[in-house]
Amino acid sequence: MIQSLQNILSLAEQSEALSPEQKKAIADWIKEAGKHIDIITFKLERTEKVKRTTSILLEETIEELEQKRKAIEETNTALTRSLEELKAAQAQLIQSEKMASLGELTAGIAHEIQNPLNFVNNFSEVSRELLDEMKMALDNDEKEEAKELAEDVIQNMEKIMHHGKRADGIVKGMLQHSRSSSGQKELTDINALCDEYLRLAYHGWRAKDHSFNAKFETVFDESVGKINVIPQDLGRVILNLINNAFFAVNERANTPQPPKGGVPYEPTVIVSTSLSPLSGSGVGGGVIISIRDNGTGIPAAVVEKIFQPFFTTKPTGQGTGLGLSLSYDIISKGHGGTLQVETTEGSGTCFTITLPQQA
Ligand SMILES: Nc1ncnc2c1ncn2[C@@H]1O[C@H](COP(=O)(O)OP(=O)(O)O)[C@@H](O)[C@H]1O
Ligand SMILES: [Mg+2]
Repeated sequence: MIQSLQNILSLAEQSEALSPEQKKAIADWIKEAGKHIDIITFKLERTEKVKRTTSILLEETIEELEQKRKAIEETNTALTRSLEELKAAQAQLIQSEKMASLGELTAGIAHEIQNPLNFVNNFSEVSRELLDEMKMALDNDEKEEAKELAEDVIQNMEKIMHHGKRADGIVKGMLQHSRSSSGQKELTDINALCDEYLRLAYHGWRAKDHSFNAKFETVFDESVGKINVIPQDLGRVILNLINNAFFAVNERANTPQPPKGGVPYEPTVIVSTSLSPLSGSGVGGGVIISIRDNGTGIPAAVVEKIFQPFFTTKPTGQGTGLGLSLSYDIISKGHGGTLQVETTEGSGTCFTITLPQQA
């Protein structure tokens, strides 16, 4: 019992004013109060203990949280680094896709340049002979004859210039393709652009693979004319779609199959252009470019994935899986147009680009 209660108890016991009953009653009350105080003290001590334990736990928890925060921070740094590395790798891949498609073009370009070059060589040779004849005519004082010969040479020179310019244009186009896109829209002859890439792609395939055998056709609507596009970018899209189409027909041609109704398979790629009708209010007309092939077609489960970056069904080294995803971005983000696909497994595929006429 605490001292102050003990003092009260001794005082009461010594008091002569109190009866023995009263003294007993006071002693009982004081004992009772003592018990209460003991209980309260016990409870207080317990609370104190709990408080101490809780604060220890709290400190531990804070420590743990701090460790977790640090771990998260480290993970974040690592993630940021990986993201940067991924971005760099992606940029590299985009560049290598461009280089791969340029590689595919090289053979086609060589073929296309060979033709004008042959003209230039032939006409130079003929012109040289004509000039020899002209010299002889002048020696013989045959003025009229010399004049006619000079006229022929002039005509030849014009042809040489024409073919020289053609080769020049092809080389310029090639350089344009390999340069990073200017991002500038220019009035561009859509039919000419399609025609150029179709020829380059076709001759590229022919040069690379001598057994390659496919037909190509163009169905151009002359009223399409020129529209504002980024020519290098649109060129890459068209080239990729045409290369995919030639790949698909080649694949089908190389897969043994029974001829349908005795008709032999004729691998064909058709590039067509047209004007899309204006909407009811008279606006929103656009240019449609479609690249159709009668190749392998795409199974339903695959077609959902073809626009995803890096998705390819081609053997390593033959496909980057970036063509369609880049094409999709170029058409939608770069030109405000659409790129759609229709396909039937086993009979062919058609990709359709729609470009707004006033881009
Ligand atoms: N004309 C097509 N016919 C059949 N499959 C196609 C055609 N075009 C694209 N594909 C499919 O879509 C995939 C992705 O094409 P793309 O993004 O150009 O990448 P890559 O040509 O490098 O494989 C191809 O691997 C192929 O499976
Ligand atoms: Mg491709």
